Amino acid sequence: MQKLLIDGKKTLSGSINISGSKNSALPILAATILNNHSTIKNIPFVNDILTMLNLLKFIGLKYKISKNKNFVEVINRNKNINTVAPYKLVKTMRAGVLVLGPLLAKYKKAKVSLPGGCAIGTRPVDLHLFALKKLGAKIKIKNGYILASAKNGLKGTKFKFPKISVGATENAILAAVKAKGVTIIENCAVEPEIRDLTNFLIKLGAKIKINGRKIKIESSIEEKKLSHKVICDRIELGTYLIGGALTANKLILNNIDSSLIKKEISILKKMGVKMTIGKNNIMVYKSNNLKNIYIKTDPYPGFPTDLQAQIIILMTQAKGLSKIKESIFENRFMHVPELKRMGAKIEVHNNTAYIYGPCALTGAEVMATDLRASVSLVLAALIAEKRTKINRIYHLDRGYQDLEKKLIKCKAKIKRV
Ligand code: EPZ
Repeated sequence: MQKLLIDGKKTLSGSINISGSKNSALPILAATILNNHSTIKNIPFVNDILTMLNLLKFIGLKYKISKNKNFVEVINRNKNINTVAPYKLVKTMRAGVLVLGPLLAKYKKAKVSLPGGCAIGTRPVDLHLFALKKLGAKIKIKNGYILASAKNGLKGTKFKFPKISVGATENAILAAVKAKGVTIIENCAVEPEIRDLTNFLIKLGAKIKINGRKIKIESSIEEKKLSHKVICDRIELGTYLIGGALTANKLILNNIDSSLIKKEISILKKMGVKMTIGKNNIMVYKSNNLKNIYIKTDPYPGFPTDLQAQIIILMTQAKGLSKIKESIFENRFMHVPELKRMGAKIEVHNNTAYIYGPCALTGAEVMATDLRASVSLVLAALIAEKRTKINRIYHLDRGYQDLEKKLIKCKAKIKRV
């Protein structure tokens, strides 16, 4: 198993190109099932994307990755589609469940493995199934699989999600664009990744309007050759922004859209992070007088759970007690025991982390447990005295494109062994 060896306390400087959004590209790739020829640009070639492409291939679609790896063409002209998402692919990447909506909508049936457990919480798919049932699907669970059918096609309807879910909103939209009539869904997730998905579907001819947390969808899609550029990865951007605030003489983050991280920018500024925001880039500098802060994670436009582990590292360097409440997942503080082994002073009670700073961190051997927990250990290692050895870094490869290449280019001392 590969590990990262990181020698901390180096001052970073240089520039990093932010990749396309993984969490946008995944549902958009699922949406290519609904079309015959889609070119998706600005795709991050990380392992979760490769798993999704494998899943599309298993279903019967063809794909071609461009030579310089900045776009993928997905072609669906197969008359014998296999409407199945097998356990081996869905268990390694939960977003595999997103093929359920488009398969059911286009081919009137789908058999998709239940994803199973996850390090950050139970993560059920009941809301995905709730939405599909409202659209007229019949759903059974058998031998660990979701068996969904809609013999006469799906029908537009009106319903309200009892809880906000990104994936369930995406599955519902992916199904509703092929349903007969109008669908109105309330209490939806409205993450930028969902807007990116709807922009792709609008290019296919769907009529979609987002008003607050209400989404109205009218079916009228028409298969055609189309091209779509995925938005920038706001979580990767936030991660390096925090990285720069911790370590950098001057770090320039390029290929970005700062409007996607307004909340994060306002919180970082309140903490005293120095940055200059340009049209397509942000410059960030190490901040020596960080202030403590109390925040909580929330669905967009709130502070994202996917940056909770990273901002904790910044909080370890802020003066006084900082707090962060995790309100999305019930078990997303797995990085805390590892950070404590590096000397961080953190306590967790009732899904809130209490961080006492400023606190010097020291290198240690630590274990990565999920994608964002892993990258928080990288940030901690960058500011720690001496060497940190991070085990199980396959999590990082699922979602951060060229992480160590990008950091080494900015003078970090990192080795993969
Ligand atoms: C998406 O996961 C992201 N994944 C996650 O990113 C992100 O953390 C999460 O949204 C929240 O922002 C992708 O986009 C591929 P949810 P998703 O459904 O859709 C509960 C990363 O690191 N829930 O919005 O699975 C659920 O348990 C990742 O890149 C139900 O109860 O998240 C959670 O408590 C990890 N029933 C809450 O809703 C359901 O049917 C929000 O989850 C579905 C979800």
